[in-house]
Amino acid sequence: MISPDNTVLPLCDLAPTYVRDIAPYQSGKPIDEVARELGISYTDIVKLASNENPLGFSPRVASVVNQHMGEISRYPDSDGFHLKRQLAEKLNVFSDQIVLGNGSNDILELVASAFLSSTGSAVYSEHAFIVYHLATKASGAKGIVTPAKNFGHDLQAMIQAIESDTRVIFIANPNNPTGTFLQREEIESFLNDVPASILVVLDEAYYEYLSKDEQLPSNSWINRFPNLLVCRTFSKAYGLAGLRIGYGIAHRKIVELLNRVRQPFNVGSIAQLSAVEALKDESFIEESVKLNVMGMQQITSTFQAKNIFFIPSKGNFVTFRVNNAVEIYDSLLKQGVIVRPVGGYGLKDFLRVSIGLQKENKKFINTLLKTLQG
Ligand SMILES: Cc1ncc(COP(=O)(O)O)c(C=O)c1O
Repeated sequence: MISPDNTVLPLCDLAPTYVRDIAPYQSGKPIDEVARELGISYTDIVKLASNENPLGFSPRVASVVNQHMGEISRYPDSDGFHLKRQLAEKLNVFSDQIVLGNGSNDILELVASAFLSSTGSAVYSEHAFIVYHLATKASGAKGIVTPAKNFGHDLQAMIQAIESDTRVIFIANPNNPTGTFLQREEIESFLNDVPASILVVLDEAYYEYLSKDEQLPSNSWINRFPNLLVCRTFSKAYGLAGLRIGYGIAHRKIVELLNRVRQPFNVGSIAQLSAVEALKDESFIEESVKLNVMGMQQITSTFQAKNIFFIPSKGNFVTFRVNNAVEIYDSLLKQGVIVRPVGGYGLKDFLRVSIGLQKENKKFINTLLKTLQG
C-alpha cells in the first residue's frame, strides 16, 4: 500500500546529494506480488528472476531449523564462532581471516564503509553486479566504470583506470548478470599488478556452480595477496537466500577493520546454524550443480536453435537478447513467468533468466517462444 500523504519533507532534501542520486535497487518480483497484482494463482507462477536454487536447500537445514526454533528469543553469537570454525577448516584459513555478513551484499557494504569515503574512488566494470555501484555511491566515493570486453571485465582497462585516490576494485567472477568468467592466470596476473594500497574484492557468489577445475584457489591467495578479499554466499547453490548469510575471506587486519563497521549481530542465529549444516551436505551441492548444468543446456540449446543471442554463462542464470525487452518482460509476467530485466545494467535489449527445474525451464521456453512469435 502506498501512503496517500504527499507532503514534501524538506529534511529529505538535506540528505547528501550522493544519497539522493542513488537509483533504488530493482529486485526480482516476488511470486506473491505477481499473484496479487495479476490475479494469477500462486502455483501457476514460475520465478526465474533472482538466481535462487530451484531445489531449495539441504534437508539437514530443515531439521536444524526446527530443532533450534526455541532459541530465537536470544541474540545470535556476534562472532559466529561455530560457522567460522567450520569455514576455516573447509577453506584452509584461520577463523580470524573470515568475516560473516548478512548476505555477501553486507560484505560489499562493509568494504565500502571501511575503505571508501568522499575523498576516494572505486573501480568496477560496465555490466558488473550493481551493488558495487550502490555501495560506492552510498559512501560518497566516486565510481570509476570501465568498459566491458565481450560483456565481461577488461582487467587491463581496470588497471589503467586506477586513480591516485582509488581504494577498492570490485570484480565478480562469474559476473552477474552476464555470467562471464575470468580464468585463473588472468586474475593472478591482475593481482600481481594492482598496487598493494588498493583492496581487490573478488566476488565469487556463484563459486559452487563452477566445475572443480574452474574453481580458483582464491581462498589460499589471501596469504599471497594481503590486499585481496574474496566473498562468497550461502544464497545461491546452498539455497539460503532468505536467511541472508555470506562471508568474506581476507588478511586478518582487513577482517579486523570490517568488523569495526559491522553491526554486532549482523547474522541471525538460525542463519548461522543453517549455514553450518548446509556446509556438511556436499551431495546437495553436487545435485544442484548437476541440475544447473542440465537446465543451462535445456535453455541455451533452444536459444541456439531459435537464433536467440545469449551470453555464455558460468552461473545459474543466462542473459539473452530480445527486441523490446521491457514489453517481452511484461508479457512473460502476465503469463506467470518472472524473469529479470537488465536495462539498469546497460543491457537494455536483454533479459536474464535463472535456471530452474526442468518443468520451470520448459514453461519459460514455451512462453518465451509463443511471446516472440507474437
Ligand atoms: C555477483 C553477486 N554478488 C553478490 C550477491 C549478493 O548476494 P547475497 O547478498 O544474497 O549473498 C549477488 C546476488 O545476486 C550476486 O549476484
